[in-house]
Amino acid sequence: MTTVPAPEAASIVIPVEPRQPTRRRYLMCPPTYFTVEYSINPWMDPDRPVDTDLAVRQWTALKETYERLGHTVELIDPEPGLPDMVFAANSGTVIDGRVLGARFRAPQRTPEAELFRRWFLARGYRDVVMPGSINEAEGDFAWTGRVLLAGTGFRTDPGAHAEAQEVLGVPVISLRLVDPRYYHLDTALFVLTEAGPADSAQIAYYPDAFSLGSQRVLRRLFPDAVIATEADAACLGLNGVSDGLDVVLPWEATDLATQLKERGYLPVHVDISELRKSGGGPKCCTLEIRPASPEFTAVVAFQRTVRSSG
Ligand code: ARG
Repeated sequence: MTTVPAPEAASIVIPVEPRQPTRRRYLMCPPTYFTVEYSINPWMDPDRPVDTDLAVRQWTALKETYERLGHTVELIDPEPGLPDMVFAANSGTVIDGRVLGARFRAPQRTPEAELFRRWFLARGYRDVVMPGSINEAEGDFAWTGRVLLAGTGFRTDPGAHAEAQEVLGVPVISLRLVDPRYYHLDTALFVLTEAGPADSAQIAYYPDAFSLGSQRVLRRLFPDAVIATEADAACLGLNGVSDGLDVVLPWEATDLATQLKERGYLPVHVDISELRKSGGGPKCCTLEIRPASPEFTAVVAFQRTVRSSG
């Protein structure tokens, strides 16, 4: 009997590290009044029709995805006349229960910051500081568990980086964005796994969105990062949300999903076609609340069966 040798590639075993999700707490805002009626980034074309009902359905599916994964979603009421309020990530950076609010660059979005400030105060957050510099919050800030990666170039002022370091008490690494399509840091980079006491964080990013110097900084800090393709970036695939295992991202980001699977993550696809007309994706709709209590940072052993029946 002759045996056909297996092709070379089939015998290569890619070591997959076990991944552990951590339970998260998110703040979201329903897109009840979502439209594109002004243009403050290259994705926004006020002449292109937007289906608000479809946006609501897509946003609801995103919220339900988080809940199915075991995360807690809190809501803030949307306000008529603020069509971008659905992008909650732009309104606060919360680390260890400390809240640094937002100051928007575009006058159309300015009132959102105060609504979120009131939401935090009404929920008992004592440590709420409003920034002096233009600061679009988690749109431009990504917490790695050890340092705060901070974008500038289009929205958030470099002065806001120093302010964040002082207010939140975390080391800040400034990164320069250079492509107007990737106007916020969270359109070009996201954290897959936060750093633990013994290991470093893992991130995914699209290098061409950054200046050469910032690309070198990223290579130096994250030599094993997932490097996204242009196609991944062009569907806002870098606007993902990871709990350390499950990675919620636009379904079109297929190259990224393949790489994530090879690294032991579970891609979870969502459709955000309507929100993308405003330059937004899953992360933009999601402000992460990182409480002071260790309860929410503890590793949670998720039960697969509970999950799949939910
Ligand atoms: N239209 C919104 C703006 O230009 C989209 C914001 C998306 N949010 C984000 N975190 N990238 O401000």
